Amino acid sequence: MVGGKGQLMMDQYRTPYFSGLLAYIAKHRASFHMPGHKRGRGIHPDFKAFLGENVFLLDLTEVQGVDYLHKPTGILREAMDLLADAYGADESFFLINGSTVGNHAALMAVGGPSKRILIARNSHRSVVGGLILNGSVPVYMPVQVDPELGITTSVLPETLEQYLTQYSVDAVFVTNPNYYGISGDIKALVDVAHRHGVPIVVDEAHGAHLHFHEDLPTSAVDAGADIVVQSTHKTLSSMTQSSWMHVVGDLVDREQLRTALRTLQSSSPNYVLLASLDVARMQMATEGRELLEYALEVAQYLRASINEIPGLYCFGDERIGRFGIHDVDLTKITINTLGIGLTGYRVEELLNDELGVEVELSDPNNVLAFVTIGDDYENADRLIKAMSDLSERYHARLPKLETAAVHTFPELPEVVMTPREAFFAERERVPFREAVGRVSAEAVVLYPPGIPVIAPGERVTPETYDYIMRRKEEGAEVQGAGDPELEVLEVVK
Ligand SMILES: Cc1ncc(COP(=O)(O)O)c(C=O)c1O
Repeated sequence: MVGGKGQLMMDQYRTPYFSGLLAYIAKHRASFHMPGHKRGRGIHPDFKAFLGENVFLLDLTEVQGVDYLHKPTGILREAMDLLADAYGADESFFLINGSTVGNHAALMAVGGPSKRILIARNSHRSVVGGLILNGSVPVYMPVQVDPELGITTSVLPETLEQYLTQYSVDAVFVTNPNYYGISGDIKALVDVAHRHGVPIVVDEAHGAHLHFHEDLPTSAVDAGADIVVQSTHKTLSSMTQSSWMHVVGDLVDREQLRTALRTLQSSSPNYVLLASLDVARMQMATEGRELLEYALEVAQYLRASINEIPGLYCFGDERIGRFGIHDVDLTKITINTLGIGLTGYRVEELLNDELGVEVELSDPNNVLAFVTIGDDYENADRLIKAMSDLSERYHARLPKLETAAVHTFPELPEVVMTPREAFFAERERVPFREAVGRVSAEAVVLYPPGIPVIAPGERVTPETYDYIMRRKEEGAEVQGAGDPELEVLEVVK
């Protein structure tokens, strides 16, 4: 069998869930159940004309024979068992609210009001949501920074060792790889956590593909992490909002995890999303290696071409071994734009407005382009042409820019109360400047890359205030807080 890095035991060409739904549809039963559009007959013609009939036939509900997400015993059970087999996990779960719900459920399984969780400070904002749900006390660990690229990289195993020696915690939570494809030494991190007897949850939202090609960084599943959450819609071919999650070993209470998922996920899961997960698993397990081989070739062509354009730099594996960079996912194309005198934000704007190219994100120093199994050379050429145009226009005219502020606020916060206590505390709105010295009742997240600078329960310092204002002026978008302009902030009364 072709596909992943492990030994497959099951017939990965099967798609029991998708095929089961097709068999159900073929029965043409009279439908007196949800969804209300009744297999598309009630859909507005304009919408149906665009989408076609089939998507509505597949948009079923929990009718007999098509199994239940919250109590899988039939075709969904088989589909999730095949998923676990494809990754070599002990158990896997389909998710219908992205990695967000995976992180929430994982934190509800390993945390609780009397527990402490050691968390890498570069975690996604969904982790704050998970802490509000589980009521745990967060203990934050610092993350390394690449000062030339201006981005955070990974937690060092020695940092984890030091924190686990200093603090008694119930679980560890890290994000790996990061948005830019930079991976820490995940095997060493897992080993350190396990030596201390605590489970490690890995947010591998950006790494669902890693398991399927030997030139990609090690997946946390292969490293033996206890829970691994993956956004299949980001790097594989399943539909937006679908994701999956794997469990390895028995350090995590699986019944608690299942209960958390039942609590957090809709009682009306979308079957189109679930079917897309079943097919994406089959695709990766049976031809993932070849598909990724091609994606890596396209990405390397793109990287080499960009590096020939004056003023641009797209890093590759030459950065391995420095600044916490243990490995690099070469399908991620981070283009440092400072050499043409433009911030990443400005380059993204020009690409969008004038050159017909849409990238994944920009930051003060870089634009980030994703290459996936859906790419080809023609698409790559459009980005190369656009970047050449920009270099020709600006490289000779503008001075090189200095690397701007890094992504996460470098100092660790003072956690005055848990995110949950702050979330439910009596609160008041004050002008943001006057929030300095107060305990925030809400999160302030800067995008990119969606990492909280302030979490509920933390004291706002003058340095945090200055950092946020500077990043905002550079063009970062404020998320998480009720007032996106951040003129006011909710603080604990
Ligand atoms: C590191 C990380 N974790 C979790 C998420 C949430 O994933 P999803 O959008 O699938 O809910 C994201 C989304 O961008 C992310 O970047």
